Amino acid sequence: MKIVLIVNRKPYKINVEPKRRLLDILRDDLNFIGTKEGCGKGECGACTVLLNGRRVNSCLVPAFQLEGSTVITVEGLRNWKVFKPIERAFIENGAVQCGFCFPGFVISTVSFLKEKSSPVTLDKIKTAFGGNICRCTGYTKILAAIQELADQKDIIDQIQEDWKNEFNARK
Ligand code: FES
Ligand code: FES
Repeated sequence: MKIVLIVNRKPYKINVEPKRRLLDILRDDLNFIGTKEGCGKGECGACTVLLNGRRVNSCLVPAFQLEGSTVITVEGLRNWKVFKPIERAFIENGAVQCGFCFPGFVISTVSFLKEKSSPVTLDKIKTAFGGNICRCTGYTKILAAIQELADQKDIIDQIQEDWKNEFNARK
């Protein structure tokens, strides 16, 4: 089947098997290799992307659901002003080791903080990030990085602004 898909602000016309996974389209067909494959069955969050403004596990999304969709991967998030402060918070808290899980955590962080209802507690963060697995860092540092970001009003404001620039500009 032929579909049109916008990835990181650029439209792509592709010919795919209806059941081909979004993860394979991103990595193998379009070369957005920042999105990682861990479990391949919706349990680790390494493949997390924003699909039409919602975070999803791209290993679970088949091509036949994608016509006209907008996808943001970690490469696309690099255009957002808030990307650097998020990256810095993870690094300064020692929350990244091999980095394999990081793309999924960054996408989830943006999605979570966009919807944040204050105050953000550690329990809320733990629940929201239950679908993101890290095999080497340990969660204390990751949760600390996210908590630090959640506590900064300028970060939340910047996410709102980046989100508006990314999605509302298309309407
Ligand atoms: S690879 Fe998709 S959730 Fe693990
Ligand atoms: S830093 Fe290695 S999997 Fe998370």
